[in-house]
Amino acid sequence: MSDEIIVLENLSKKYINKTEQIEVLADINLSVRERDTISIQGISGVGKTTLLNLIGGFDSPSSGRIIFQNEDITHYDETDMAKFRCKNIGYVFQSFYLLEELNLLENIILPALKLGLPRKDAVAKAMEISEILSLTNRLKHFPSEISGGEKQRAAIARAVINSPKLICADEPTGNLDIKHKNIIAQLLFKIVESNNLSLILVTHEVDLAARCTRRYKIEDCHLIDLNS
Ligand SMILES: Nc1ncnc2c1ncn2[C@@H]1O[C@H](COP(=O)(O)OP(=O)(O)OP(=O)(O)O)[C@@H](O)[C@H]1O
Ligand SMILES: [Mg+2]
Repeated sequence: MSDEIIVLENLSKKYINKTEQIEVLADINLSVRERDTISIQGISGVGKTTLLNLIGGFDSPSSGRIIFQNEDITHYDETDMAKFRCKNIGYVFQSFYLLEELNLLENIILPALKLGLPRKDAVAKAMEISEILSLTNRLKHFPSEISGGEKQRAAIARAVINSPKLICADEPTGNLDIKHKNIIAQLLFKIVESNNLSLILVTHEVDLAARCTRRYKIEDCHLIDLNS
């Protein structure tokens, strides 16, 4: 289908160390189209972050293929994958990974500068996104000077600055109270919908999963369709 953004074909992941082999994911098949919002639930340790790491090329699958807009990205080397990811996939990590030595504005514009956007244009874009995410008056602050919810919003701003086709968000409302969970969920969906992005959202929150157009869970290494 032409509007497919990413396709996972028979994706499997085993971690092999000296004494044992841990099978985490087996035969995962998923097709994400433009504007799909996909939620992935599952108990702690089941393989949700592992799956997002495979999609973003932070880790390689044991077998299977990852096709992004008709391009097989499964075996890209680290350098090619970093370039590809910067342009095409926005990541909101489970533990933010904001750079402590940069203020929020500098953190947010970093992926845009990496792609070669002039600083003036990157700043203008960051201002626009920060307005939507209510971060404008925190842009000069460093990560150590802001709250957890503000860090989460900054991580979302950084993930969307290059207008990637796909956002992968790993428990973006984890560790927040109900009020801030709702605010961040609202903002994330607003930014995804207003830019026609696709979203793969890992979450333990049933309410948040229910907002997605398609729901899945990982159980016993398999991706289970919860839509029917
Ligand atoms: N590098 C590794 N080597 C060996 N095992 C690993 C490695 N990374 C993760 N695992 C194991 O793989 C399994 C899946 O981990 P993963 O981080 O994907 O879980 P998760 O579903 O994201 O959990 P959580 O909800 O707690 O974030 C876990 O049992 C974990 O211990
Ligand atoms: Mg995880």
